[in-house]
Amino acid sequence: MTAGGGHEPEWWRNAVLYHVYLRSYADGDGDGVGDIRGLRERLGHVHDLGVDAVMISPWFRSPMVDGGYDISDHCDVDPLFGTLAEADALIDGAHALGLRVIIDLVANHTSTDHPWFRAAVANGAGSRQRQRYYFRDGRGPERADPPNDWISAFGGSAWSRVTEPDGSPGQWYLHLFAPEQPDVDWTSSEVRDGFVAIMRFWLDRGVDGMRVDAASALAKAPGLPDFGFRPESLFTPETWDGCPFWDTDRVHEALRLLRSVADGYQVPHPLVGEIATSSPRRFADYVRPDELHTAFIIRFAKQPWDATAFRQLVDEVLAALGAVDAPPTWMLGSHDEHRPATRFTSWFASEAGGGSGTPDAADIEVGRRRALAAALLLLALPGAACIYQGEELGLTDIPIDDRLIQDPVFRLTGGRDRGRDSARVPLPWSGRCQPYGFSTSPQTWLPQPPGLADFTVAAQEADSDSALATYRAAIEIRRSFVGTGLTWRTAPDGVLHFSRGEAMECVVNLTQQAHALHGRVLVSSDRGVHSSLPPGTAAWVDPR
Ligand code: GLC
Repeated sequence: MTAGGGHEPEWWRNAVLYHVYLRSYADGDGDGVGDIRGLRERLGHVHDLGVDAVMISPWFRSPMVDGGYDISDHCDVDPLFGTLAEADALIDGAHALGLRVIIDLVANHTSTDHPWFRAAVANGAGSRQRQRYYFRDGRGPERADPPNDWISAFGGSAWSRVTEPDGSPGQWYLHLFAPEQPDVDWTSSEVRDGFVAIMRFWLDRGVDGMRVDAASALAKAPGLPDFGFRPESLFTPETWDGCPFWDTDRVHEALRLLRSVADGYQVPHPLVGEIATSSPRRFADYVRPDELHTAFIIRFAKQPWDATAFRQLVDEVLAALGAVDAPPTWMLGSHDEHRPATRFTSWFASEAGGGSGTPDAADIEVGRRRALAAALLLLALPGAACIYQGEELGLTDIPIDDRLIQDPVFRLTGGRDRGRDSARVPLPWSGRCQPYGFSTSPQTWLPQPPGLADFTVAAQEADSDSALATYRAAIEIRRSFVGTGLTWRTAPDGVLHFSRGEAMECVVNLTQQAHALHGRVLVSSDRGVHSSLPPGTAAWVDPR
């Protein structure tokens, strides 16, 4: 096996994961939507990157309100993506290439189309079937107000009302995400048993690990108390401290159960948490030895281009997770975040989140340059790293026309938040125009922009200075220093400089001036770097 994970029993500690958003990776059946067959045909790309594992977004049966995160059958594959047999073949195909397979465990909610939810609605208030979810009576006259003031992470109230079997306006149910994603109640033994069975179903089929989606949400404070949210409040990090539905103390019971299932196999099956907390210490609690194996550092994917901010975060994370002997999984982006090449533009920084307009071509150049430098930082840090598809090509956010946006966040925030589709545009594989080898159909589920010809996998494979070539080189070199600690070196303000062992130093120049470089360059984010590191670039050097 590859990039440092190797045959190590605890391979996830230093692994490089490649995150596939299935709808947008490659289309194997010509309907304009990526699928399992497409991924299988293009697994070579993942293998050639040299990563250890492929992490795949949900492929389960789903009405696709939230791109497959609204699941109606966790133990079957949605026809949009293929069949169970194709999933089996994909797992085998990945293993044959030395790649491990991680899939998504979406355990906080189901789809409203799930048989559990249908039964809950059909069986009425007080039924056993309703206890798998959070059904409550409303407040006020006619019980017409939601049971409490909680808000959805996607905008608006976290409650929706059902119509009872007799046609009357009925109880309310909780959904921390879209109304089509009702939260399940983990205090129900049927829920716990159900998810244990789902885990076993996939682990028995050969899946090597699981991403635990929305792990901070799995338990709610008893009594579901109000928190002081207003209907127009947004679910921002400032609201997480003491929040009765996020990062509550009881969440750890659920995670210990998941861990016991993963530990029931001869070889370990790592659980990678999607976790967000108000403090690093609370974050570390999720990766204690009997909980999740590792967790994504989502804050790394939100960092501005600022050396102090990067260093502070790295130090905080390494200290907090070091205390529980868990490795971090660093990431620069995901299907939920802005692409780093856009995030690092001046336009993005100035518009506080990239509000309106778009960066100009020169600014995008700067963003791309910095994103590749940040990739060398990502891959040089102790722990695991996750690359989101397209980062290795230097892709940017692609503006999507209002009428074509599919992410429910856009609708649920009344357009205040344009959602995450800009980072989900189908990958460009080859050729000079759409669909760039993604599909045989010219119509892809989200439109690809013109002008990607130089960013296709094929074009970058033919260019030894491309982003893709740099990623491949860095992942290969990374094998030589995994397992070593990080030591910061003295450096001017705005320069990050640390060593990993004796033979590798990572230098990132976040200033506006060139920075003198000492040692033999192993890999750099800019062509022709020797003794001087230009602004917005990074290099790995052997100082000996
Ligand atoms: C996670 C997923 C995101 C999804 C949400 C609800 O945050 O990464 O894409 O919308 O969970 O399932």
